[in-house]
Amino acid sequence: MLKRFTVSMEDNLLADFDDFIRDHHYKNRSEALRDLIRGRTIEKEWEADKDVMGVISLVYDHHQHKLQEKVTKLQHGFHNQIISTTHVHMDHHNCLEVIIVRGKTGEVRGLTDSLSALRGVRNASLSMSSTGKDLH
Ligand code: NI
Repeated sequence: MLKRFTVSMEDNLLADFDDFIRDHHYKNRSEALRDLIRGRTIEKEWEADKDVMGVISLVYDHHQHKLQEKVTKLQHGFHNQIISTTHVHMDHHNCLEVIIVRGKTGEVRGLTDSLSALRGVRNASLSMSSTGKDLH
């Protein structure tokens, strides 16, 4: 059920908020505020080492000696956390892997950091999301 409440804020802060709404294509202030609160809820889940979901994007040079093997071995070590992996051969040298993960924050961050530390990995980034259980 939707409840209404009144928000008071300074002119400048409201102008910033309206810029944010325009930049992010929100239809109204209510939807923008709801999304900001959901975003904060996700941050709290990650801080509390709860069960989270995320996507790791990995770019690496498959010509690097034994790298493909190391990437696969690492992922097998996290088979309980990895839901799916998609591999894209981007060009002659570079591969992109998108890894969908679910687990404790520490496990997901651990996998991302371990992949990132491999020689030949050009970029490993983690997009943090939620299982949705605590999102309304
Ligand atoms: Ni490839």
